Amino acid sequence: MGGHAAEMEAARSCVACGAVREALRCGHCGAADAPGGYCVQRVLSQSAHGRVYLALDASGRRVALKELLFALVPGPEQLDAFEREAAVLRSLSHPDIPRFLASFQEGTGVGTRLYLAQEYLEGESLLQRLEREPLREDEAWSLAEQVLETLDSLHQRRPALLHRDVKPANLILRPGGRVALVDFGSARHLAREVTHGSTLVGTFGYMPPEQLGGTVEPSSDLYALGATLVHALSGRSPADLLDERLRLAFDADVRVSASLRTFLHTLVAPRRSERFGSAATALERLRSLRAPPGPAPVGAVVALQPAPVAPLPVEPVASLAAEPEGGLHAASAQATQEAVPPVRRNALRWVLLGAATVVGLGVALTTGYLVLRPRAESPLPAPPAVAPSHGGRPVAPLPADDPGGEHRHFRTPWQPGAGSR
Ligand SMILES: Nc1ncnc2c1ncn2[C@@H]1O[C@H](COP(=O)(O)OP(=O)(O)OP(=O)(O)O)[C@@H](O)[C@H]1O
Ligand SMILES: [Mg+2]
Repeated sequence: MGGHAAEMEAARSCVACGAVREALRCGHCGAADAPGGYCVQRVLSQSAHGRVYLALDASGRRVALKELLFALVPGPEQLDAFEREAAVLRSLSHPDIPRFLASFQEGTGVGTRLYLAQEYLEGESLLQRLEREPLREDEAWSLAEQVLETLDSLHQRRPALLHRDVKPANLILRPGGRVALVDFGSARHLAREVTHGSTLVGTFGYMPPEQLGGTVEPSSDLYALGATLVHALSGRSPADLLDERLRLAFDADVRVSASLRTFLHTLVAPRRSERFGSAATALERLRSLRAPPGPAPVGAVVALQPAPVAPLPVEPVASLAAEPEGGLHAASAQATQEAVPPVRRNALRWVLLGAATVVGLGVALTTGYLVLRPRAESPLPAPPAVAPSHGGRPVAPLPADDPGGEHRHFRTPWQPGAGSR
């Protein structure tokens, strides 16, 4: 490459602010260009202490690259703290938690930047979804069930791993219908595995009263899930719903069945003794409450879906460091498998209902015919028409907005809200 071309290459514009960038970092906003050789595509999120980028690795695979910045020169404690977050993620292997790929450091002194590369999860955060519209009740049940499964596996570890910051921004709705849990940043703030008198970590409104005092236990994550569900169903931030006794007063803002209301109240009870004792207990209760008493309405089994994501243009990768290990794994197959048993139950109910309808109709028409037919008429007419059916199953009436009916039992796609985000 000639001198001029090289200069042009170096002077690309910043992916974050658009300013002309003449170095590896934008001189205007500070966004990185190719930390560790990962080619930054865009900023997914940013806060006072860092950013999360969408970047490409050497093979063009998408990664989420978390960057930590410092106002003062970081000491060994801060470097260790970041390593703790990386270590927690590295130790986890769960289909609904992004996989650790690499961690590394760049720069020196106050220019030190710490990076954590992890599997990029397609989809949108629950917070983004709520900016368009709240969740329906069936979607809320589905979200609760999935997050409880993930929390259960974290809490089952010894020592139990408490997330401490369950909230809409940390839940990602994936295209396959699964919900992923991200952000193990709380590990940075905990020097030891303490649950009492520990540093305050969490987000006001989502964290239970005891967490404000630095005490956490598994039910603190359950409270945060409850507050997240209240937000998701009401469209209101739970911090706005706290009454003077720090109780989440959501009854007027959340319109759901009595069973879901009771379930939510137990999740967000201010007294720990009134909450579910564990994620496993909450899951058990959820499954017993959620089981429909009669034939379930169409769409009772819900796969949570984000708004469709436009494909990203893939830019050529300039210089690349050591390739992170492994490839992406999808969790959607699991979602489908888990959805099957209830669907089969529903289908069976419809078949029985259909059969009963056919027999009933047949008896009624035959009786009517025998009573009303002219006496002279001898052969029986053709069998009466029966309720419309398909493949031996009754055809349930489609709701007006059912797109095609084919997968309605499996999936209720997110309505993209006419493209507004
Ligand atoms: N693996 C990932 N795949 C896709 N998007 C992600 C991923 N990790 C994070 N994000 C997005 O980036 C946002 C911020 O990430 P994260 O929650 O880890 O950082 P943070 O909240 O800024 O940091 P922290 O709470 O640790 O200080 C998330 O809300 C999510 O939208
Ligand atoms: Mg976060």
